[in-house]
Amino acid sequence: MRLLSYLHSRTSLFTKVLVANAAIAVIGATCAVLIATHFWNSQEHAPIWEFGLIAVGLVVSLGVNYALLRVAFRPLFTLHATLDRVRRGDFSARVPMVPGDPDIARVSEMANLMLDRLAEHRQAVAAQILRAQEEERKRIARELHDETAQSLTSIVVNLEAIERQAVGSGVDEALCERLHLTKEVAQRTLDETRRLMMDLRPSVLDDLGLVPALRWFINHRVLPAGLEADFQVSGLTERLPEELETALFRIMQEAITNVVKHAKAKTVLVRLHREHGEITGLVVDDGQGFHVVHTVGQPVRDRGLGLFGMQERAALVGGKVVVESAPGRGTTVRVTVPDRRGGDVR
Ligand SMILES: Nc1ncnc2c1ncn2[C@@H]1O[C@H](COP(=O)(O)OP(=O)(O)OP(=O)(O)O)[C@@H](O)[C@H]1O
Ligand SMILES: [Mg+2]
Repeated sequence: MRLLSYLHSRTSLFTKVLVANAAIAVIGATCAVLIATHFWNSQEHAPIWEFGLIAVGLVVSLGVNYALLRVAFRPLFTLHATLDRVRRGDFSARVPMVPGDPDIARVSEMANLMLDRLAEHRQAVAAQILRAQEEERKRIARELHDETAQSLTSIVVNLEAIERQAVGSGVDEALCERLHLTKEVAQRTLDETRRLMMDLRPSVLDDLGLVPALRWFINHRVLPAGLEADFQVSGLTERLPEELETALFRIMQEAITNVVKHAKAKTVLVRLHREHGEITGLVVDDGQGFHVVHTVGQPVRDRGLGLFGMQERAALVGGKVVVESAPGRGTTVRVTVPDRRGGDVR
């Protein structure tokens, strides 16, 4: 009994139907042989070739049975393959409608509706999170700029003035040294605060736009890490809508940060161009590469959010991100977004 329930839970529907049909064919053929043997016995001769004929008939009927079942179960296999693609991270996969069983067609339709709903829900949640995150970053960067950085600047300026006075007026040397160290700590804290401010929301992005912001990012993050960088821009001579600039900057910032963090690359090519009503951003490295499908298919708790966030940000402005990579063959991240103004710029 246990064995039966074990087999039942371990065997696919296809195998069960195949085995059941095969059993019927085998039993039928065995009965036919027994009846025929009995008949031939009574006739006192048993032609061997007729047994062969029955065996061939049995093999043919088993083959036909297998082929028919494969065709009949095709919609189910397609459904399974699609859900497996979704499991591995391809959320755009949908079950193609293969003509066949109406029950399976209904299940496929329901699966597609469910996937559409999940995609809508995921995008709405992601949109809210990303907008809230961007607003929060802007707010913190502004506070740091208006409050913390101003106060620190004034501390540094005052400490410099006190230090100058102290040095000239014969104050204890140890005290002067301490004053000097305190000023240096304040200066470092000010530099660190400025760096944090820029990481949160580079003012150059708001003030000058996407291209200068990317150039600034490359100069401040890629070159100091010892990588060679090539930055090419074409067709982008005007500012883009703010939403588009933010999305493209964040996506390319994440792709470039990944190169610095993970790629062990020597060079990185960053390219931004606008043509045919589309803006394309490209980040290509010659580093160690990685298994994209394995990484994206991992459970969310086991992986970073960078690649996932890129896709979501692109989707919010109607675009998409394609990541191509393989171990030992570098990585290419390509983001494409529709140009809101339909490519009216040279
Ligand atoms: N350019 C790259 N070269 C080599 N491996 C990469 C590259 N980009 C991503 N990866 C691999 O893909 C994984 C997932 O990247 P992802 O940006 O999603 O997460 P993360 O960078 O680890 O964390 P987070 O971005 O959340 O700080 C990385 O851990 C890394 O193994
Ligand atoms: Mg990352």
